[in-house]
Amino acid sequence: MKKFIVPLFLSMNYLLLTAQPSRTVLDFDKGWRFHLGDVNGAENVGANDADWRMLDLPHDWSIEGEFSKDNPARPEGGALPGGIGWYRKSFTLPESSKGKEVYIDFDGVYQRSEVWINGHHLGYRPNGFISFQYELTPFLNYGNQPNLIAVKVDNSKQPNSRWYSGSGIYRNVWLVTTNTIAVDHWGTFISTPVVTDNNATVVLTTRINNRSGKSQSCTIATTIYDASGKTVASKTTQPADLSDTLTTLIQQFTINNPQLWSVEKPTLYKAVTKVLVNNAIMDEYTTPLGIRYFHFDAAKGFFLNGKPLKILGVCNHHDLGCLGAAAYTRAIERQLQILKAMGCNAIRTSHNPPAPELLSLCDSMGFIVMDEAFDCWKKRKMEYDYHLYWDEWHQKDLSDQILRDRNHPSVIIWSIGNEIPEQGDSSGTRIARELAGIVRSLDTTRPITTANDHPDTSNHIIKSGALDLIGYNYHDWLYTDFPVTFPGKKFIGTETTSALETRGYYDMPSDSIRRWPILRDYKTKAIMNADNTVSAYDNVSAPWGSTHEETWGKIKKYDYLSGLFIWTGFDYLGEPTPYSWPSRSSYFGIIDLAGFPKDIYYLYQSEWTNKPVLHIFPHWNWEQGKAIDVWAYYNNADEVELYLNGKSLGIKKKGPDDLHVMWRLRYEPGTLKAISRKGGKTVLTQEVHTAGKPAKIELVPDRKNIKANSKDLSFITVRILDKDGNLVPNADNLVTFDLSGEATLAGVDNGDPVSHASFKANNHKAFNGLALAVIKSTGSAGTITLKATAEGLQPGVVTINSGR
Ligand code: GAL
Repeated sequence: MKKFIVPLFLSMNYLLLTAQPSRTVLDFDKGWRFHLGDVNGAENVGANDADWRMLDLPHDWSIEGEFSKDNPARPEGGALPGGIGWYRKSFTLPESSKGKEVYIDFDGVYQRSEVWINGHHLGYRPNGFISFQYELTPFLNYGNQPNLIAVKVDNSKQPNSRWYSGSGIYRNVWLVTTNTIAVDHWGTFISTPVVTDNNATVVLTTRINNRSGKSQSCTIATTIYDASGKTVASKTTQPADLSDTLTTLIQQFTINNPQLWSVEKPTLYKAVTKVLVNNAIMDEYTTPLGIRYFHFDAAKGFFLNGKPLKILGVCNHHDLGCLGAAAYTRAIERQLQILKAMGCNAIRTSHNPPAPELLSLCDSMGFIVMDEAFDCWKKRKMEYDYHLYWDEWHQKDLSDQILRDRNHPSVIIWSIGNEIPEQGDSSGTRIARELAGIVRSLDTTRPITTANDHPDTSNHIIKSGALDLIGYNYHDWLYTDFPVTFPGKKFIGTETTSALETRGYYDMPSDSIRRWPILRDYKTKAIMNADNTVSAYDNVSAPWGSTHEETWGKIKKYDYLSGLFIWTGFDYLGEPTPYSWPSRSSYFGIIDLAGFPKDIYYLYQSEWTNKPVLHIFPHWNWEQGKAIDVWAYYNNADEVELYLNGKSLGIKKKGPDDLHVMWRLRYEPGTLKAISRKGGKTVLTQEVHTAGKPAKIELVPDRKNIKANSKDLSFITVRILDKDGNLVPNADNLVTFDLSGEATLAGVDNGDPVSHASFKANNHKAFNGLALAVIKSTGSAGTITLKATAEGLQPGVVTINSGR
């Protein structure tokens, strides 16, 4: 029997469910009422929410607010408001649901959430990044009598995060209905203990929850399907006695000629388990499966499926730019697509459990994941951070993360903490052992690490012996000592680089590296210009880090350096390091907050992919006679020749350790042209033209067809062009958006870390020639037209189709 998705009928704000055969998992995101601010008694059924705002989840109220350095989150936390918010949702359940078990699953609520059903308090969960479930069954009404879920979210105690957290029910919510005998919550564990080219052993552990109140006999039948839907293995257990509430059953399968999961070809299988009692199907449960094997070698680094593979990763926080923390699957997918095209093959979910959709996307798109649990343990980093909840919650939060995430083939490393203060004292040893013990009690198939800013032998967490990988945050100058410092141990660059750039902004000269003196000037703008710009040549970094070229140049050289996670893939809200108000977002990204690549993106593309790359910069609009450094990143070629207005400026070739070439020349307007050649033959040509005055707007959607499901998005790049179609590199025109048809404007941005303009307005300035509009389907099929206008410019228009 297939999973039965129940049709939803929303009348008023009531949700009707029709009969359900076994398990139903309903998207419960639609039709919530929201109120910003605390309300006495809002958990009570009779509370009046008629004038509350109606919205669909996922929702982040902070992103709708105004930037101020006086907001308690502070600029480090994104400078947006926190506070308390309430959500309520009314729904009905059919009489036929009587006798079923009904649960509500929250993928993530930031933070300190409390949930009530029909006035009954279900629970409290302080951790804003963890997924959790409550059972509703004993408190439900059926038939015409409505039920009311009330959720209080308290993000008023700030600062509680070193980066932008967002506030609210910012991830998906699900209503899950099962029979009284069903697979337990996160109740399967799949692993592939033996994998060869010829066959794979798959072990599936299934925990059955018997809530029927009586002893029952059940069998479970599992079928493993390949990606095309073909059955590749199938087994049914002997009848098992469900005398206890929870019973664990184990099944083992052999899959012949397995198609292995890899980052290049992420082949997925799935295991579909039916729970049968007296031949009746009580439950059907799907577990994702990817067949792969891997190991870390102290001398040779990481191996996936027997082949060496450098881990080419980035760290990312969870915000999605102008959408805030609201976890739209398409926005996550877009980030991963942009990173994939750069050659990135790994993601570190810094510094918390991610949205589950991120892991599913990493499974299907081929990313290795370092799944991280905590940014602090018992000792605080911030006044109101997780240390407050540590004693009571860390065991449950960590266990829940492992239970939720351990079936994803993409998850390859568990990180139990980032830059944990307990590195410095013996409690670090005790807690590291405890946490590693929790992880290993639930999963022994993956290595455990911590991200250490003190990667040395005095580190009490490392000394615990509980870790499988020694995680280095920064300290690239110590990489070459690693085999001597930690003989026989395995290395992972948990966090690297922390270089800073403003997209499209360039200071001359480009060849002196700038870092501010360590810690002393941390709160100054030491390496920024007065307008808070940072040059996009790769020559500015935090003192604890290094430039992209400095770091990657080392990592690529030594096999024992298994890989790196660059800080960061995308710019994120908060942490405008160094402290640099009015800046309110980071400069560390390879890609800016709006999703526009900085030049450094092409360094990685040239190093990490096989596709031919030639990228020259900067733009070509300068003062006559100014000395300009022109850089080129390239690959698949022996040399690059640069021409200005047809005149050669010489051929440059990278030396063995070089990652770019450079020409210094006096500016004159016109056309800069680069040609990369291999064996004398042209590989690629790139031209940069001096742009004239802004004349028109071009709109470039990432997708012209979106799904009419009220969640799908199109990201539309706004380009300010001169009359000849050249991007105007310093254009900052105010662009106004006029949207019609079946979409709403979900956000606007331009990637400028200093802008305080609203992400939710219908206008935004361009920043260095570019802006972004994100549109969201209303849920109805139809045509969407976005028109962008700016004073004195020819408007841009684009049509998007929203369909079923
Ligand atoms: C690291 C830290 C990150 C971020 C980064 C900025 O030390 O782990 O969360 O703060 O510095 O350079």
